[in-house]
Amino acid sequence: MKILVTGGAGFIGSHTVVELHNAGFEPVIIDNFNNSKITALDGLRAIIGHDVRCYQADCNDVAALEGIFKTENIEGVIHFAAHKAVGESVAQPLSYYYNNLNSTVLLLELMEKYGIENFVFSSSCTVYGEPDALPVTEATPRKAATSPYGNTKQICEDIIRDHVRATPSLKAIALRYFNPIGAHQSAQIGELPLGVPSNLVPFITQTAAGWREKLTIFGNDYNTPDGTNVRDYIHVVDLAKAHVQALRLLQKQTTGQYYDVFNVGTGRGNTVLEVVKAFEKVSGQPLNYEIGARRSGDVEQIFASADKVNNIMEWTAQKTLEESLADAWRWQLTLKK
Ligand code: UFG
Repeated sequence: MKILVTGGAGFIGSHTVVELHNAGFEPVIIDNFNNSKITALDGLRAIIGHDVRCYQADCNDVAALEGIFKTENIEGVIHFAAHKAVGESVAQPLSYYYNNLNSTVLLLELMEKYGIENFVFSSSCTVYGEPDALPVTEATPRKAATSPYGNTKQICEDIIRDHVRATPSLKAIALRYFNPIGAHQSAQIGELPLGVPSNLVPFITQTAAGWREKLTIFGNDYNTPDGTNVRDYIHVVDLAKAHVQALRLLQKQTTGQYYDVFNVGTGRGNTVLEVVKAFEKVSGQPLNYEIGARRSGDVEQIFASADKVNNIMEWTAQKTLEESLADAWRWQLTLKK
């Protein structure tokens, strides 16, 4: 079964391509390499043993997209490709609304035109905002988004839900990712942040590698066990496997008009300081860090209830925080500045 993977050269996309291949699916990538590098395809070839078909094009390029649907016998779409930087979305909202919403609408239109029934969407725990109770379940009401980026994820979820209601054959799942970290254990693929990383783990590994002078921890006066923010850090390979399970769940549906959302997290929360300490342990070296001011827009704490994804999708995160950080570090050591 051929699966179109938009953003398949990116961090989560590339790991998902590997797991799709391992599970017997045939991934086909579309990526514009805006926030990924063509070298990801070399890593994929090294892991899989052959080239993965890849179209270099933008998901808002309707002619390019339609060309793929005409040429390939696509039976499912996993839609990763999106702008994803919270701060940038505040500065350039139109770019985020145009890119993230338009590509989703175009894909759904073309899927309808070409009779493609299976859709998996990359959503985010950002749709919950600052939750009133923890862990967050899928029944936890979504709060008003705190950034245009978060708003695009909420709106895309709504677009998909409404379109599924109106489309008898369509089956769709939105996966609400918590914080993906780590890299493939082969160290052939991993996260490739452009410029200064805004995410915690790449900043930690780049600091340990001497690329950055020190990590600034954004606040230690939160109402958490050690005062630093709590997040649910999930190994990217575990997250990738959840997409395979999502496709299998879609395949099991005998009728269309199926839409559901799943949290994809470990179900445990860790503070920033716990991540730093775990990294020091697995890398065997102290990390240079300081405590700084809070980062605006950060929620105090969030972690998933993984009950629904465990039970219905038959998926559970396997890797520990230490394993995830060890893989992230091994990947960092392969990179040249
Ligand atoms: N952090 C630091 N120093 C840094 C970077 C991050 O202390 O240099 C802290 C943050 O304050 C936060 C934690 O590390 O407490 C994790 O931060 P990340 O930026 O790695 O991840 P976020 O939880 O902020 O963001 C992630 C995704 C977003 C998504 C958001 C939803 O990257 O795409 O979750 O909550 F919108």
